[in-house]
Amino acid sequence: MRIVAIADLHYDEQTRPRVEAIAGAVCGAEADVLVLAGDCAADGPERFSEVLGLLADFPGPRLMVPGNHDLWQHDSRLDTRRLYDEVIPAMAAAHGFHCLDREPFVLGDTAFVGCMGWYDYSFHQREAPLPGMTVTPVGVERGEGGRMAFHAVPGAREGAWEELRPEDYSAHGLIWQTDGPPHVAVWNDTVHVDWGRSDPAMAEHFAGRLREHLAAASGEARRIVGVTHFVPFAELADYHHDDPTRAFARAYLGSPLLGEALLEGAGVELVIYGHRHRQEVREVRGLVAADAGVADQDAGPLLLTLPD
Ligand SMILES: [Fe+2]
Repeated sequence: MRIVAIADLHYDEQTRPRVEAIAGAVCGAEADVLVLAGDCAADGPERFSEVLGLLADFPGPRLMVPGNHDLWQHDSRLDTRRLYDEVIPAMAAAHGFHCLDREPFVLGDTAFVGCMGWYDYSFHQREAPLPGMTVTPVGVERGEGGRMAFHAVPGAREGAWEELRPEDYSAHGLIWQTDGPPHVAVWNDTVHVDWGRSDPAMAEHFAGRLREHLAAASGEARRIVGVTHFVPFAELADYHHDDPTRAFARAYLGSPLLGEALLEGAGVELVIYGHRHRQEVREVRGLVAADAGVADQDAGPLLLTLPD
């Protein structure tokens, strides 16, 4: 079985020529099944729908999970849950895609089981990006007209980077000062996505959903291919960043709960994911983990072959 996989297209006017070229390569890849591992769009569901349209000529089953960027909203009526539960699956169905967040898909002796996942700050970078660096967590909210509004976090004080705890990332912002003016890093999902629950609660929710899907698929197929948008294993998030903004973003890479669910699922041989913007295929804890990201300019669709 030949799988063609992509993630992190981040489609907008700027990336259109490249996305069209990648879509052409996907459709001509002579694969048996297409897997989209999220972040088709740069900034919201309208773009998401356009990308699915570009992939309409792929001749086999087309499977997808959304990414965080596919859920972004710019207006003041944030209803992320409705977008995720209704709008995205309906758009997928309208373009002939199967949304794995709804239910697994069985193709021959292989079940494709997945969901987007979320992050719980577990993968945050422990080591300071700059030696001796001190930082202060800052709260970020959606203000007037969808703009960012900053506020102090009760009890938060300036301290060494190494003292940041996972919960310090729940405010979604960080301030630090070196020689010049202060810098601020913001995790932008905070102004474009609103689940009405904490990030760790959502990471747990999605891991539970993945477990349910794995249980439903067991017995339906000889082997299972997992699909997530967010990173499922700590080993896949353990690179060090010297740039404070990128180091800050590590907290939002994914959740080990996704990996635990996959390891508990009998017959999972491969997991396809994205979000990191680093295409890579490697073995992790007895599974093959494939980052299908095409955000790097020289990355193209990932072709994976499962033995018959
Ligand atoms: Fe993402």
